[in-house]
Amino acid sequence: MKKDFLHYQAQTSPHPLTLQVSRASGSYIYDENNNAHLDFVAGVSACTLGHCHPKVVDAITKQASEYMHVMVYGEYVQEPAVTYAKFLASLLPPNLETTYLVNSGTEAIEGALKLAKRTTKRHKIIAARNSYHGNTMGSMSVSGAESQKSAYRPLVPGTTFIEFNSDKNLDKITKDTAAVILETIQGGAGFIVPTNNYLQKVRARCTAVGALLILDEIQPGFGRTGKLFAFEHYNCIPDILVIGKGMASGMPVGAFVASNQIMKNLQTNPKLGHITTFGGNPVIAAASLATLQELTTSSLINDTLEKEKLFKKLLKHKYISEIRGKGLMLAVMLINVDITNHVVMHCAKNRLILFWLLFEPKALRISPPLTISNEEISKGCKLILEALDSYKK
Ligand SMILES: Cc1ncc(COP(=O)(O)O)c(C=O)c1O
Repeated sequence: MKKDFLHYQAQTSPHPLTLQVSRASGSYIYDENNNAHLDFVAGVSACTLGHCHPKVVDAITKQASEYMHVMVYGEYVQEPAVTYAKFLASLLPPNLETTYLVNSGTEAIEGALKLAKRTTKRHKIIAARNSYHGNTMGSMSVSGAESQKSAYRPLVPGTTFIEFNSDKNLDKITKDTAAVILETIQGGAGFIVPTNNYLQKVRARCTAVGALLILDEIQPGFGRTGKLFAFEHYNCIPDILVIGKGMASGMPVGAFVASNQIMKNLQTNPKLGHITTFGGNPVIAAASLATLQELTTSSLINDTLEKEKLFKKLLKHKYISEIRGKGLMLAVMLINVDITNHVVMHCAKNRLILFWLLFEPKALRISPPLTISNEEISKGCKLILEALDSYKK
């Protein structure tokens, strides 16, 4: 099977991890020999409620037996999508009331950028260095890493980059700017949280010049940072909110949310401002609804901050320089890249799943399911400390 995987399935890196999955449940992924691997990554922040949460599985199964795809986006009234969008609106500030459901995070970013252009009738976008917003041409254009982008140029023109968390370049946001797009917490850059009221300052500047603020919550969203959305920590409300990943607890999804007035710009002149066949898919919407219901009726979101404390208490070692991030979106910074690689590989052998961050090679990614137990956290942290102890220069 691994040989076929490497040959028949397109590869994107020279060194895939090649864990062969037979099933997954809760905080564990089981390999072909039924060994349990403790998952500190959650499909890269996607499996919010752990693997195969019974409520999500039930919702999917029930909806799949009633109807699946019936029509392209936006034509038929399909209860799962409508109920979800209404429920989401009830949990968001009043200006974030109308949701466009799509298939992935990157598509949601594309939709948000298009919407900003249509709304402001401007085309210039400001984004942050070291940002990551996805891998299609538009979202790649507003992502920061030149090393990943240069092979695909020319990309979408009109993008300017500013330094995240720096006040200095805010004057680059002008009356020509359609939108500023930022991750609320920078993910690939190393789980960098906004400091010094940075987001509020960007918000104020956008409002002053009539630019829209797009916040990408694809990674921190859905409770991972101890609030349903990370922007709630920073007193800054975007004009367009972009969500995905953990939204449906393991099913492919994305969405962008704005006021009804802004969203209406996709409806006319020309109509069909964003087209998708599968966006709003009823099975995915049912999984999203089950996830949101569970998050809002349990203590999982609050518990996230206690779990963060436990990780920070347990993960003390001479090779750990710092732990960045918030809630269960943690980047354990090691003193050099060699140690990071050693820990990921050593833990993989000992059946603890860890991963890297895109642009910060010294960081160990810790983004487990929100349902992880304290015992599982302790067990995994012990394995990390053992891996650190076993490192030889
Ligand atoms: C902040 C952020 N934006 C956008 C994306 C793209 O999402 P997707 O991989 O679902 O297209 C990601 C994925 O890692 C992300 O972390």
